[in-house]
Amino acid sequence: MVFACSVSHTPGIRAWPDAPDTEIKEQLYKGFSVLRKKMLATEPETLLIISSEHFTNFFLDCMPAFTIGQAKEYFGPVEPWIKIKQGTTIGDPSLSKRLLDACYKDGIELAYSHEMKLDHGTMIPLSFLDPTRELPIIPLIINAMTYPMPTQKRCYELGKTLYKALKSEKKRVAVIAAGGLSHAPGEHTHGKIDAQFDREFIRLIVEKDVDTFTSFTDEELESRGLGTHEIRTWVTLAGVAKDLKATPLFYEPIPAWATGCGLLCYD
Ligand SMILES: [Fe+2]
Repeated sequence: MVFACSVSHTPGIRAWPDAPDTEIKEQLYKGFSVLRKKMLATEPETLLIISSEHFTNFFLDCMPAFTIGQAKEYFGPVEPWIKIKQGTTIGDPSLSKRLLDACYKDGIELAYSHEMKLDHGTMIPLSFLDPTRELPIIPLIINAMTYPMPTQKRCYELGKTLYKALKSEKKRVAVIAAGGLSHAPGEHTHGKIDAQFDREFIRLIVEKDVDTFTSFTDEELESRGLGTHEIRTWVTLAGVAKDLKATPLFYEPIPAWATGCGLLCYD
């Protein structure tokens, strides 16, 4: 692994760029630009993007906890309204297979799929970090949508397993987590953001307080809005990047996008 970062993926970032305060939006876009420069400087060969399910690939007929993409290419975004040009990005099935095998050997039986589509959860970060879609990607999708969901501890364990797998990997891989922070999409509390919780969560990640950030219960997260379950993506990456220093680049509660938006980089 040569690069890692955690970001928010709320669709408004591209769909409604003029909705928030201009200065705050520019700070967020600038933060993404910093991440892009840092990432490109590490010359990654493949992007592993850890995002969350939004009923794009899976529904109640089958809802895996974790799914890794094994496809040769991925179409997206499925939502034309997010104002990101639709198209395909090539995959990296051979690296994905190696990661899958490493997970099985380490006791984590990920689901895998050769036919995954990309939604805003993957495309928002990709539109900033690799807008021309040149680098191969591997999507890894976590169920943060319907109960039961994997625990924070299990997400962190998956991250540690991926850490080991990537450590012995010759390929230069950038790992991006995309989700959260607090938001309540479509709920009666839609628009409610718990900035205090978000800032505390970021602090726990920075200080590597693993015991605390892996102990959040479903009830604690749901009380901040169901979308807050997506912090599982950040928790997973905290395991992948456990040896690296985490630096927050941006955080603001952005009511116009109904989400607490954060950016964090690992060095
Ligand atoms: Fe999401």
